[in-house]
Amino acid sequence: MNKLNIVILAAGKGTRMHSNLPKVLHVIGAKPILAHVIDCAKKLNPQKMIVVYGFGGETVKQAFAHEDIIWVHQAVQLGTGHAVQQAVPHLDSDAQTLILLGDVPLVDSEACVQLLTQAHDKLAILSFNKADPTGYGRIVRGAADNVSAIVEHKDATEAQRTINEVNTGIMAMPNQHLTKWLSQLTNKNAQGEYYLTDIVALAVTDNVNVVAQITQDEWSVTGINSKADLAQIERVHQSRIANQLLQQGVTLKDSARLDVRGELSCGQDVEIDINCVFEGHVTLGDNVKIAANCVIKNAMIAAGAQIAPFTHIDDTKIGENSRIGPYARLRPGTTLAADTHIGNFVELKNAQVDIGSKINHLSYVGDSTVGKHVNIGAGTITCNYDGANKFRTVIEDHAFIGSDTQLVAPVTIGRGATIAAGSTITRNAPADQLTLCRAKEQKSIVGWKRPVKVKK
Ligand code: UD1
Ligand code: CA
Repeated sequence: MNKLNIVILAAGKGTRMHSNLPKVLHVIGAKPILAHVIDCAKKLNPQKMIVVYGFGGETVKQAFAHEDIIWVHQAVQLGTGHAVQQAVPHLDSDAQTLILLGDVPLVDSEACVQLLTQAHDKLAILSFNKADPTGYGRIVRGAADNVSAIVEHKDATEAQRTINEVNTGIMAMPNQHLTKWLSQLTNKNAQGEYYLTDIVALAVTDNVNVVAQITQDEWSVTGINSKADLAQIERVHQSRIANQLLQQGVTLKDSARLDVRGELSCGQDVEIDINCVFEGHVTLGDNVKIAANCVIKNAMIAAGAQIAPFTHIDDTKIGENSRIGPYARLRPGTTLAADTHIGNFVELKNAQVDIGSKINHLSYVGDSTVGKHVNIGAGTITCNYDGANKFRTVIEDHAFIGSDTQLVAPVTIGRGATIAAGSTITRNAPADQLTLCRAKEQKSIVGWKRPVKVKK
């Protein structure tokens, strides 16, 4: 392919979002709208990517500080033609330019490739047929169906307004032509703007062929102007992800009740029940089953693991065939080896739990190393924090921690040790012994009466 420049128009204010956040920073699938456009642009390997920004200026630039972008400021929005004019100093004379819109997140890179193959010696426009074309620029075709102009809705005659083929705003052309046409634009039209779309008529004057490539995929050219648009495109984006997963063989109990806000990769025979949210990078191994209402972020869940309902997982690795939940909370830094069981109302944070260990009920295990085949009884708390510093708890292989135990860190429970229920352990417990720390004796007070309510 020829040398490529891509200009992304993103200076519009986005008034109808009713938000302080610049429009292009609102998110689809947890990723800014503009990031979707930039990712599409990157797939086309351009020599230069130029973003025309205006409203929200520095915030937008900062959000993409890591990208190789030439930023061009359009201080006042005098129209799409004026916006592209701002990029002219950066355009390579021997390249072609693709114009993309910063508020069209589902833009399709394959349609762009097709457009660019046409645009090496032509002006190529991406168009689509819209049932209600109100507000859009109409594609006017002359004899032999040749495109002769784009007429903006406000400038169109009644006859032109009946045309359903509209301009998507996405177009491509050789730069020698583009720079010349841009210099010839005027703002003598209904909106007093410099219309990029006027380059079509200029191309016709210069005997440069104009082609309109009609897309069937309306969502891929739909811009976001309001929160309603944002919500609608989010659903489209999500249903596309769900369909990809279904095609790969993932079982989704309801493809409309799945949200992937990042990347989800799945092995074979994965099953996902309803209302699950996946964030960041999540990998599910073969035969993993995720029950309803789980929120899973940046996690690797190995083959055969089962996650029961209402489980929350963040920055955690889970070993093969483990059983997690219901109502478990796995917080950052947690690593579970194979065959671990984590049950209801158990919170783990920065805990490394080895093969076959069980923490099944109502426990907090934080900053801890748990060995193999350890059993941690109900209501066990690792007291890892003294109000200022955090300390580690180490529980060695085959230890058994009785229910309602507090392990005051730093503390080590030796291999095979047993801790009696209800103990508060403040010193290391030796291997293979029973350690208990309770009130000295169990008393019963004869004749004791329950208090009764005082009558007023
Ligand atoms: C434009 C097209 C219209 C097309 C429609 C598709 C023109 C004159 N009209 O209409 O033919 O059917 O898009 O949605 O091109 N922008 C700037 N600076 C400006 C003006 C706009 O950066 O001065 C950016 C906006 O941020 C947006 C894009 O250009 O990303 C399109 O702007 P918008 O105002 O939505 O275009 P329309 O005039 O409605
Ligand atoms: Ca628009």
